[in-house]
Amino acid sequence: MGVGVLGVGHYVPTNIVTNSDLEKVVDTNDEWIRTRTGIEERRIAEDDMNTSDMAYHASLSAMEDAGVKPEDLDLILVATVTPDTPFPSISCMLQEKLGAWNAAAMDVSAACAGFMYGMITAKQFIETKVYKHVLVVGAEKLSKITDWTDRNTCVLFGDGAGAAVMGEVSEGKGILSFELGANGGGGKHLYQKDDGFITMNGREVFKFAVRQMPESSLNVIEKAGLQKEDVDYLVPHQANIRIMEAAMEKLGISEDRMAKVINKYGNNSSASIPMALSESVKDGKIKENDVIVLVGFGAGLTWGAVALRWGC
Ligand code: ACO
Repeated sequence: MGVGVLGVGHYVPTNIVTNSDLEKVVDTNDEWIRTRTGIEERRIAEDDMNTSDMAYHASLSAMEDAGVKPEDLDLILVATVTPDTPFPSISCMLQEKLGAWNAAAMDVSAACAGFMYGMITAKQFIETKVYKHVLVVGAEKLSKITDWTDRNTCVLFGDGAGAAVMGEVSEGKGILSFELGANGGGGKHLYQKDDGFITMNGREVFKFAVRQMPESSLNVIEKAGLQKEDVDYLVPHQANIRIMEAAMEKLGISEDRMAKVINKYGNNSSASIPMALSESVKDGKIKENDVIVLVGFGAGLTWGAVALRWGC
């Protein structure tokens, strides 16, 4: 048997904030944001919508896609850096909203690589037959920790959630290989300040990401016994189009075979990868038996990649 994704879903708030809107808030312009980041607009949640609400909507969609009921869930893992409150965990809040009373629940903190850490944690429980269905969610309301006076960061982020129900799939499908990593020494480049806002040394994070994304992708391809030519589709963390293109070039992947939602959603941290995955599946860009690589990096510093064969 394999361990894979049984269903996916995502949710984005309806409120769209364009680059032109941000020109009225900070000293920036549409041309700078587009050319340096690839972002055209982002979704910003209303005051009465918190991270757990977005997680809930994305989860419902993933569970419907997987044909799994709340009582079927054995474990809920939510990757986030913006939980509603430090405790109780957002996973427990989600358990209540879903009525998933049979599920254990815990949060995963690995910033933008959080969904990868969640997937691999889920894999261990399913592989050992401890649990049958694990709901893995990446959800963020980054707007609440964004300093809207700092043009270096406020143009980059958006709110949203993505989810996947994981479980047993047939032999040869599902996760083929993975890599998780961390370098706490790089924590100083990207963190939440005492005032609660994100602070970032963009150039340092950029250098790390441009190196790490292709390296981790190639590592999981090799670990799976595949060649880069075998990869049908790449789902990278949506932090900067230039970082994504660097990974695409190293893997020799054409633009139509890479998930790209950064233009309309910006960087959604741990939600980026599941949102991009879910949209790609729903748009028919990922098909049964496709080999896909998911790859992310984030504050910590952390990184993670998964090679998987799509389908149940
Ligand atoms: N509008 C206009 N000008 C700006 C803006 C803006 N929004 N932001 C910065 N600038 C200016 C800078 O002040 C600088 O001006 P200076 O030369 O006069 O000092 C100039 O633009 C160039 O700045 P750089 O930092 O060199 O720009 P760069 O090309 O590196 O792009 C960026 C910056 C987009 C942040 C890039 O470094 C990047 O994407 N880094 C990685 C970010 C990332 O992946 N973060 C992960 C976050 S995950 C998380 O937080 C949970």
